[in-house]
Amino acid sequence: MTVNVKEQAAALFSQEANAFLTYFAPGRVNLIGEHTDYNGGYVFPAALTKGTYLAISKRNDQQVVMKSAQFDQTVSLDLQSLDYDDAHDWANYPKGILREFVTNHAFDTGLNFYFHGNIPNGAGLSSSASICLVTAYALNDLFHFKVSKTDLAFLCQRVENNYIGVNSGIMDQFAVAFGKEDHALFLNCETLEKELIPLTLGAYQLVISNTNKRRGLADSKYNERRSECDKGLKELQQEIPTLQNLSDVTIDLWKKNRSALTDPTVAKRVEHVVQENARVVAAVQALKTNDLEHFGKLMIESHESLRDLYEVTGNELDTMFDLQKKEAGCLGTRMTGAGFGGCTVSIVHKDHTDQFIDNVTKAYEKAIGWSPEMYVSNIGDGVKSL
Ligand code: GLA
Repeated sequence: MTVNVKEQAAALFSQEANAFLTYFAPGRVNLIGEHTDYNGGYVFPAALTKGTYLAISKRNDQQVVMKSAQFDQTVSLDLQSLDYDDAHDWANYPKGILREFVTNHAFDTGLNFYFHGNIPNGAGLSSSASICLVTAYALNDLFHFKVSKTDLAFLCQRVENNYIGVNSGIMDQFAVAFGKEDHALFLNCETLEKELIPLTLGAYQLVISNTNKRRGLADSKYNERRSECDKGLKELQQEIPTLQNLSDVTIDLWKKNRSALTDPTVAKRVEHVVQENARVVAAVQALKTNDLEHFGKLMIESHESLRDLYEVTGNELDTMFDLQKKEAGCLGTRMTGAGFGGCTVSIVHKDHTDQFIDNVTKAYEKAIGWSPEMYVSNIGDGVKSL
């Protein structure tokens, strides 16, 4: 879908359509490598064709006005007062980005922003990285700041960490910045080495299924998992002083040193990270050799580990997973993103997709009491000008 944000923005702000520049940033789906990014590990996300559109124009005053097609609220601000404000809800994301730029650059005018998003919020598909990246990319382009895409990704992560208060890693911002149509991004979150791998699925396709369970307390639980990992790292460093990140712990090293961890919960978290990291490498290898069956198996193991060791799934995601993995034509399925609700991603044979969606929808409704949303997902490009 291409959204005609320029015309819509022009009507809303009573300006000429050609006063606006337009941009798009995708959401992302992570195929495997969950809760590894902030441990310096590997991830394997892909950019969606769904995301956030932005039309932006300069004003004649120092005001900033933000509107969205999805939220009624119009947020009006002064360029000098960009502190976080609960009442500004969604607009805190672009505000945080703007504040980062205002701190280091002089702005000669105020701005009009009009956002149009088509990824569900809080569904684990990175709607927040999408709105942040589209804002950062647009400001960088409009004012010729010449910040690199890598630095834009880090700027967005800083906003998420320090302004919004979620201690997220770098996966989402990199996927949204560097995604490519029909490719997935194999990223080493320690060295930032990255490789785009063709997502050649042949007779199979990706299905995304939203449990429609809002992530609720996800942010505090997310931060809790992060500190459990930090605790695990500190204890392991007493045995292995050269250790920089949990991702440097190989499966062998883990077997030899697991007794160093005093807290069994922390030990479970670390075990997940160590094994999940190895799974990403194996999954990329499987994709490169067209072994989709093995890729699917690794996805299933990943979900089980997120359920049993990392404990970030919950009833809705687990019900969805159980229903999907036994369907004909489904090679693999798992939760994607932070967890605690949100979506699964599955690899399903094209000939079985209709039946897969139909069967799972009915059984999920029966088990959970409300409907999921399931659709075939296409893989698109990273952030761009339109
Ligand atoms: C969220 C965070 C990412 C990553 C995932 C879990 O999407 O924003 O940085 O940690 O959760 O893999």
